Amino acid sequence: MRKESPIRWDSEREAWDVFDYATSKMVLENKDLFSSDRSQKKADSEKTPLERSLIGIDPPKHTSMRALVNRAFTPKVMKHWKPRIARIATMLLDKIDPKSEVDIVEQLSYPLPVIVISEILGVPIEDQEKFKEWSDWVVAGPKDNKPETISALMEQQERVNKELFHYFKEMIALKRETPGEDIISVLLQAEEQGVTLTEDELIGFCILLLIAGNETTTNLISNAFYCFTEFPEAYERIKENPLATLPLTIEEVLRYRSPVQAMGRVVKEDMDLHGHSLKAGDFIVPWIGSANRDEQQFPNSQQFIIDRKPNLHLAFGKGIHFCLGAPLARLEAEVILEEWIKRFPSFKRAASFTLEPIESAFVYGLKEFKV
Ligand code: HEM
Repeated sequence: MRKESPIRWDSEREAWDVFDYATSKMVLENKDLFSSDRSQKKADSEKTPLERSLIGIDPPKHTSMRALVNRAFTPKVMKHWKPRIARIATMLLDKIDPKSEVDIVEQLSYPLPVIVISEILGVPIEDQEKFKEWSDWVVAGPKDNKPETISALMEQQERVNKELFHYFKEMIALKRETPGEDIISVLLQAEEQGVTLTEDELIGFCILLLIAGNETTTNLISNAFYCFTEFPEAYERIKENPLATLPLTIEEVLRYRSPVQAMGRVVKEDMDLHGHSLKAGDFIVPWIGSANRDEQQFPNSQQFIIDRKPNLHLAFGKGIHFCLGAPLARLEAEVILEEWIKRFPSFKRAASFTLEPIESAFVYGLKEFKV
């Protein structure tokens, strides 16, 4: 597909699919030709806080909002979070019994990002269970008792959205009174310095962090563990010097088993692309997972090469919407993998293991991974 038909129209989904690296990068990067406002057919009042958040808007609004929220993800802020992430990783690893089977997803890669993001947002420990439930619901829909009709599902969704909205509204009021070191307080202080983020925008941003940062990071960590068992020779090399090898290894996991497989854009004006006529308003989907395996960009693209350089993968997107949480996701993966290797250098897949990816066309990860 990448060579013969880098772009094609899917009439069922009514969307253009893009498979090769060069075109995917161009679509993600080109904000003048491709919009991130995927809900542009809705009136502004009908849009959810998430649709109005950073990931769903274009410049000039995106530019000012991004400049503001960048403050919460600077290298200095990340340095501050590192020991706290290490503490959470240690707490999770302490619970592992080295003599029994461990489900990496349930015990490590799932809880770590949720706990980290709730600490970053300043969610009190006693609310973390509820917070985890909401987060799961928003990302993956209901686990049990799935509603039988679409309207019942939408009703439930509406209820969860409202609960989240009110939760953060109250949280913001609390942080205004008693600021802490969390992101909400940092952004409220920025607001006071004359740069504005409305309360709705701040709530939308909190919900976006919850959604954008959890399952993606879970999948990065699970996929890294899976790659370690898939490529034992590479793992032997990583074990010899984890500190030096892990940063590039994590980039290769992001490329080889990309947690986010696709991203959508809306075509802004009629154009010709690879001989196809695209119309303004058409939906277009660069397939990041496919672009990251493009031989034109990555020699030996089907091989897992832990010191691949350069490794200009698109796993975190490209251009103005490049993942805000990339430094945090990389840090979480590095901390937990390094600590795991120190404690349990040798491990193998459980005898009962079968590869079962989570059910999604857009994200890639494992439902469970017993070792
Ligand atoms: C944007 C992937 C972790 C917050 C994005 C985009 C991708 C992505 C592909 C680009 C979206 C677009 O172009 O439309 C990932 C992956 C992650 C990860 C693979 C983990 C391995 C995180 C974390 C956070 C986060 C931990 C925050 C806690 C965001 C935000 C945006 C974003 C706020 C929107 C940026 C903007 O529109 O300017 N992410 N993400 N992500 N990500 Fe991540």
